Amino acid sequence: MQRQLVLNYVLTSQGYPWEAWRHPTMDVTRVNDLDFHLEQARLAEAGRFDALFIVDHRAQFHTPDAALFFNLDPVQLLTAVAAHTEHIGLIATLGTSYWTPYAAARQLATLDHLSKGRAGWNVVTSASVQEARNHGLDEAEDREIRYGRAREFIDACLQLWHSWEPDAITADRSQLTPVDPEKIHAVNFAGEHVQVDGPLGTPRSPQTVPLICQAGPSPAGRELAGAYADLVYAACTDPPEGRAYRKDLIDRAVTAGRAADALRVVPNLVPFVKSTEAEARAFQRELLDLAPEDALTINSPSMVIGTPEQIADRIAVDFASGAHDGITLGVPVLSALADFVDTVVPLLQARGVHKREYAHGTLREKLGLPFTLPVPRERWTRFYPA
Ligand SMILES: Cc1cc2nc3c(=O)[nH]c(=O)nc-3n(C[C@H](O)[C@H](O)[C@H](O)COP(=O)(O)O)c2cc1C
Repeated sequence: MQRQLVLNYVLTSQGYPWEAWRHPTMDVTRVNDLDFHLEQARLAEAGRFDALFIVDHRAQFHTPDAALFFNLDPVQLLTAVAAHTEHIGLIATLGTSYWTPYAAARQLATLDHLSKGRAGWNVVTSASVQEARNHGLDEAEDREIRYGRAREFIDACLQLWHSWEPDAITADRSQLTPVDPEKIHAVNFAGEHVQVDGPLGTPRSPQTVPLICQAGPSPAGRELAGAYADLVYAACTDPPEGRAYRKDLIDRAVTAGRAADALRVVPNLVPFVKSTEAEARAFQRELLDLAPEDALTINSPSMVIGTPEQIADRIAVDFASGAHDGITLGVPVLSALADFVDTVVPLLQARGVHKREYAHGTLREKLGLPFTLPVPRERWTRFYPA
């Protein structure tokens, strides 16, 4: 079968640049409204997007030249979205610096259960001073320490997610307990940064391990991605840079003992699409005029502009050249999602690089990304008394 694009949609209320909330078609007050998020989720599902992705920070950022960015809690919001969608993946951002592995593993396992195997985890290390000061620190730890903790945090979560065997629940009414005591394990994880005994208080979820996503481009971030990530949100959209970035991640994955096709690179792309190039340029100008000039270097990725044919061509050519495996779509204003689904998606489908129907199975199964990392069980002990 022809290699297929991964299409990931950034579920947001604010558009790009952030000041796009000022556009007359936008209504930022709907950020708290489930129906508002469901409208986008259903549209993305109609466009056969693979996943919704919610960006999150554990602080408010406010500087004179950057608009305030706010949203609902990603796991809770995606759990509600799960009840009203059927196929699309649900990727929540959860940071490793201020959560504990037990809490994160349990939240994500619950999302995976309630969505029937559609959960994903965007692993971030929360570098900002604002986040540090919301969690009892004066400043964030250095990058090496944050990423060292992130590795241990993921390892601990992997152990917790495996701590229930798939068939641990027996529900045998002739026994005093509804589980097989041999099939639930204490994991006794004792790292430098995180410690957790386990087992998890939630049974094994459909995927066992949610899709693991990562965005840090520093050497430490790439190393983490190579070792664990299924999806990587690169910030770059320039094809030579994209090819080098993707190759570097694949090399790191292979060095970490994983298969060369173990991860997919899905750079963030914000297309300004209109039926003529001149209209698309005018649309982009209209939005950029809403933001202070220097804010664009702070909060906007590189953007692409053009007709549906030009945008589809750009995505398909870069995909074929190995610059990426798909895109993480950000939209300038929210009506642009419908435009993308109505005009660009059919062109990608006609080229055979984007699916017309969803495959069956969990998010991992749909993407062909089985979890293959070994889970060391040397320290595990029987949890239930004999
Ligand atoms: C597309 C994309 C999405 C990101 N989403 C988040 C996010 O939701 N929360 C967050 O704290 N950081 C987010 N980041 C920041 C990265 O996780 C990372 O910390 C940052 O790019 C700096 O890289 P480094 O950690 O390797 O130094 C995102 C980055 C990119 C490129």
